[in-house]
Amino acid sequence: MATRSCLCAFLLFLVFAFQSPIIRANIFPLPPRECRQLSFATLARFEFLSQLIQLRTEFLLRSSIGVGINDISPGLIQGGPAPIGAAIATLDNVTRGIIEQFGLNGVGHLRAIVDVTALNPPLPRPLIDVRAEAFANVLGLGGLVPPFNVYNNRLRFLLAANLLTNLLVQYEGAIAPAIIGNDEQRLLSGIERTNAAELGVIRAQLYASVNATVPPYTLTVRNLTDIIAETVNLRGRCDVKEEGLIVPLQLGAQNRTTVNVVPADVNSLAFTRIETEVLRIIFATANATITGGLLPSGLFGAAFRLILALRLG
Ligand SMILES: *[C@@H]1O[C@H](CO)[C@@H](O)[C@H](O)[C@H]1NC(C)=O
Ligand SMILES: *[C@@H]1O[C@H](CO)[C@@H](O)[C@H](O)[C@H]1NC(C)=O
Ligand SMILES: *[C@@H]1O[C@H](CO)[C@@H](O)[C@H](O)[C@H]1NC(C)=O
Ligand SMILES: *[C@@H]1O[C@H](CO)[C@@H](O)[C@H](O)[C@H]1NC(C)=O
Ligand SMILES: *[C@@H]1O[C@H](CO)[C@@H](O)[C@H](O)[C@H]1NC(C)=O
Repeated sequence: MATRSCLCAFLLFLVFAFQSPIIRANIFPLPPRECRQLSFATLARFEFLSQLIQLRTEFLLRSSIGVGINDISPGLIQGGPAPIGAAIATLDNVTRGIIEQFGLNGVGHLRAIVDVTALNPPLPRPLIDVRAEAFANVLGLGGLVPPFNVYNNRLRFLLAANLLTNLLVQYEGAIAPAIIGNDEQRLLSGIERTNAAELGVIRAQLYASVNATVPPYTLTVRNLTDIIAETVNLRGRCDVKEEGLIVPLQLGAQNRTTVNVVPADVNSLAFTRIETEVLRIIFATANATITGGLLPSGLFGAAFRLILALRLG
């Protein structure tokens, strides 16, 4: 018991010791504790990022062309159980081509992480659940009748791709200032700019159909982006960072437009989300220590272990 509380105290010291310079320099009120930057090593951040990339990449590749990361690049990630519930999605050729490229981009990003950082292949591979039910739950659409299926409609598919891509970009934005090493900074910046471009493409595709009803529901794309944003923001527990495609004027760019193809804050700067926020949303539990959703067994690596040890729910 004594050893355990000593360890916890030490870990807490690490977290707060690293935070103190930020606290002193910050002229704005501190965000609540559950929204504050955590002090993980650069390698632990890439380990965490590599698992978010795997989740999204397996989803995009398997739903567009029916293959996984290791089919494209053998030995890049660990073997083991294939993602649960992966399926080929009903997509038109243009969308399929776009999604296939984004999936292949993810494989390149994983290889770049292996090339630049001290993480060695095969990268540890989390258990991934991409069943339609898991997505419905994570998107906050679990109550719809008939059940929301991301696989058999292009717009529903893009809504799922939008959330995963946005979380990735937001996490990359959150850790960028804390990454140590020129090569590592360049690596993250390259991944982030690619993912941000991908997010813009996905949201532009959705925006072109913003008023369309999404079968079999009477809800429009706009309605669904609103419902998803509300759930995601509640679960993230750190303010409004997921936004619908149409927003009230006071949330639009310069308070002059309701069009919100590219979501961002009052000065149109992209939002960021730290590890615990991302987990609360991906687990669909609003608690970073209670696994579920798309990563039912949690993640590997030092960052997630510390989140569990410090009970950073
Ligand atoms: C979509 O692509 C498939 C395979 O490349 C092709 O057979 C089909 O004709 C294309 N459909 C359209 C509508 O272009
Ligand atoms: C959606 O509908 C609104 C109101 O009817 C209209 O002003 C807007 O141009 C439509 N947007 C698109 C992208 O079709
Ligand atoms: C869907 O959006 C329209 C505006 O386009 C709004 O009037 C309506 O209340 C929304 N419906 C739901 C169920 O959110
Ligand atoms: C837009 O309105 C919000 C309050 O709703 C305000 O905080 C913000 O400064 C305004 N932005 C601009 C550019 O006027
Ligand atoms: C998160 O879950 C843990 C483990 O069940 C629990 O101890 C903690 O109180 C929860 N935190 C929040 C903020 O709900």
